[in-house]
Amino acid sequence: MTETGSGKPVMDPGSSRRQFFKFLAASPLAAVAYSAIPSSWMEPLAGEVPISREPGSLPCTNCGAPVLNPLFDPTESRTGLNLPRQEMPQELPPQQAQEEQLTGSLIESPEEAINVWDFEQVVHGNSLAQHWDFLHMGVDDYETRVANREGFNRLMLRPRRLGVEASAGLDTSMEILGQRFDSPLFLCPVAANQAFHTQGEAGAARAARRRGILQLQSHVSSNSYEEIAEARGEPHWFQIYTNPDWNRNQRVINRVASAGCPTLVWTIDLLGGSNRELSRRSLSGEGRDSALCTQCHNHQEGYQRPMNRDLDGAPGERPPYTWDYVKRLKDASDMNLVLKGIVTAEEAELAIEHGADGIYVSNHGGRAVNSMWSTIDALPEVVEAVRGRVPVMIDSGVRRGSDVFKALALGATAAGIGRPYVWGLGAFGEDGVDKVIELLVAEFRMVMQQTRTTSVDEITSRFVMEAKNPVMTRHNELGFGL
Ligand SMILES: Cc1cc2nc3c(=O)[nH]c(=O)nc-3n(C[C@H](O)[C@H](O)[C@H](O)COP(=O)(O)O)c2cc1C
Repeated sequence: MTETGSGKPVMDPGSSRRQFFKFLAASPLAAVAYSAIPSSWMEPLAGEVPISREPGSLPCTNCGAPVLNPLFDPTESRTGLNLPRQEMPQELPPQQAQEEQLTGSLIESPEEAINVWDFEQVVHGNSLAQHWDFLHMGVDDYETRVANREGFNRLMLRPRRLGVEASAGLDTSMEILGQRFDSPLFLCPVAANQAFHTQGEAGAARAARRRGILQLQSHVSSNSYEEIAEARGEPHWFQIYTNPDWNRNQRVINRVASAGCPTLVWTIDLLGGSNRELSRRSLSGEGRDSALCTQCHNHQEGYQRPMNRDLDGAPGERPPYTWDYVKRLKDASDMNLVLKGIVTAEEAELAIEHGADGIYVSNHGGRAVNSMWSTIDALPEVVEAVRGRVPVMIDSGVRRGSDVFKALALGATAAGIGRPYVWGLGAFGEDGVDKVIELLVAEFRMVMQQTRTTSVDEITSRFVMEAKNPVMTRHNELGFGL
């Protein structure tokens, strides 16, 4: 059909649908894609092809070949007509499956989770709005958060197909600062885990122990160092926010060092504050002074977070961040010192010069400074400057086992998750964290198998490349999936 005068072909919408159905009819496998058909197509379509609600197949209007009847409900028929099993047509996947693949589904148990975003939906549904906003937010318009995901998505795999069969099987373990873990995935320091589940950091610790992965505790955690170490069964790493009163820092350091903490992580990426607009909106009015908030936040006179309890000294602004401070922190104990928040080659070099034992590439999950490039984009220059002298860790936007693989390929020793394990914790406590770790490690193992790598040492930059095609992100209008 041609539009009069213009010469431009105009498609009859019905004809494009008919062509689509012809294509489906030609392929029995493709017929399962019926589930993706918008329901608005069904009614007009009913007038064009003889759609029947009877069980069984539908003849193709074109060639007569049997295709699946999209309106047939096998559950209804099973009770109504009592068909023998072998006569049942193939069950259709749920209509909402494609949408849920982008937004996550509201699962009822950890076992139902297909990927980490399924937990995001649940914790969104069961958290206080202000707590959810605190977890979810990025700064300004979320550019850094989005960049973090795009950075990973833009990196493509260059798999190897054939290789030698690994006699010892596939080994995902990694070593960092003298400790060996079962996989290169780790749990980042995240404040106030009890805002999402009463088990708090201790619940996450039990899951991390079960899965043999490294866990970092936030200075502003809900559980104390001792409680978390007891839940884990061994000391873990501690992240510090320094205080202008040096004595106070020294007391925190002494406390965790004497509990056996092997590594202190100093977070340096929240220097100038951060523009957290979502939190400001949801804490409007009385904010934390509201009756609801004070019930928990100030439930007792002089309430302090566990890691600040019994520590005298002036609260207030964090100290001027200077390179001398690295040495001071380093000399304050026998613990290793890792600097969290480095994103440039220059600072990686300076950090090592001043005594850092490890570099942690992070932009705080897009919660600190906006308009940043992604951490996976920053990683190569940091790795190049470090020249293998100390381990390099990375976080921000890690959501897939393939992201862990990509980070290792570009020279990281370990890759961390922040929000995803808190989604797991907030949804199902320890079991949710356990499942999040299980999913990501399983995905990571799959990529190792797909690339014929048998240990983390074999994962090199030869296995990744910049995308040649535009990047697809899962980000959708609901704001989930980042
Ligand atoms: C709710 C929340 C609280 C956080 N609290 C801290 C903290 O106390 N100390 C810290 O160094 N980083 C903190 N972070 C940043 C994480 O350690 C990590 O850098 C970030 O979450 C990684 O990005 P991702 O959430 O995209 O995985 C926090 C992140 C979130 C989401």
